[in-house]
Amino acid sequence: MKITVVGAGAVGATTADNIARKELCDELVLLDIKEGIAEGKAQDMQQCAHLLGFDTRIIGSTNDYSKTAGSEVVVITSGLPRKPGMTREELIGVNAGIVKGVAESIIKHSPDAIIIVVSNPMDTMTYHALKSTGIAKNKLIGMGGALDSSRFRYQLSQHLNCSAADLNAIVVGGHGDTTMIPLIRLATWNSQPVTKFLSKEQQDKIVADTMVGGATLTKLIGTSAWYAPGAAGAAMVEAIVRDEKKLISCSVALDGEYGQKDICLGVPVVLGRKGWEKIVDFDLNADEKALFSKSADAVRNMNDVLKTTA
Ligand code: LAC
Repeated sequence: MKITVVGAGAVGATTADNIARKELCDELVLLDIKEGIAEGKAQDMQQCAHLLGFDTRIIGSTNDYSKTAGSEVVVITSGLPRKPGMTREELIGVNAGIVKGVAESIIKHSPDAIIIVVSNPMDTMTYHALKSTGIAKNKLIGMGGALDSSRFRYQLSQHLNCSAADLNAIVVGGHGDTTMIPLIRLATWNSQPVTKFLSKEQQDKIVADTMVGGATLTKLIGTSAWYAPGAAGAAMVEAIVRDEKKLISCSVALDGEYGQKDICLGVPVVLGRKGWEKIVDFDLNADEKALFSKSADAVRNMNDVLKTTA
């Protein structure tokens, strides 16, 4: 099994680090456009092999895509991260060109790869990568819901004073501060609805804080977060390579599901060896459906910007 991570910035390197620690492949390629950075970080990670007890071979490459040939899963993290006060959407002008070039180079060397897109604005970049490469829709998956759902569980665990591992909670819709939809009505604490234990004010705060989870960290750190994004990307890779059939919220191409077409948006999907294998209908209520359709409108507007930028 060979896996590639494109982009050796904080998110890409953390994704690669998690993939290596979990021994999800024999060979892991880390590629970056900046001279030496991928080679350096790959060596640094490889020097943890004895300390952490893993056998994955990690290869760094400065923009040489021939090294990525034959990858079965590729994670694209390339592009600029957010600065404080910036929305993910403001990155479209720069990142659209980068993601298109990367996706095309990847497919040239690994035509059968399953691609996970992390670059922002993620839903639009996933759609863009799908259109640029023309690969089967089940092989193109955007990383947003896995991260946002984990942040949602964090917020819930703080209010309920419980283990995040005991929570089941999912975020659907776009991966944007105003487009994501934490489905609190459906969230459970070991099968009990969390709404039973939380006041309306607490519920509203949990939802609001989840939605700006990334922005809050960007403000504190000065750039985009990387630990949870890297862990979320690696969890998706794990579900795919181990054929786990895990139900994870991911941005995928919709063709009528959840009332939307010709768009990539976060919905619950089953992840396995074939990529996303099935979209699961969560029976949204009227309010949630309205939020989903509003989220789709915002992402569609962003997708329209591609026509002028890329
Ligand atoms: C975040 C970036 C990865 O939400 O979009 O932290």
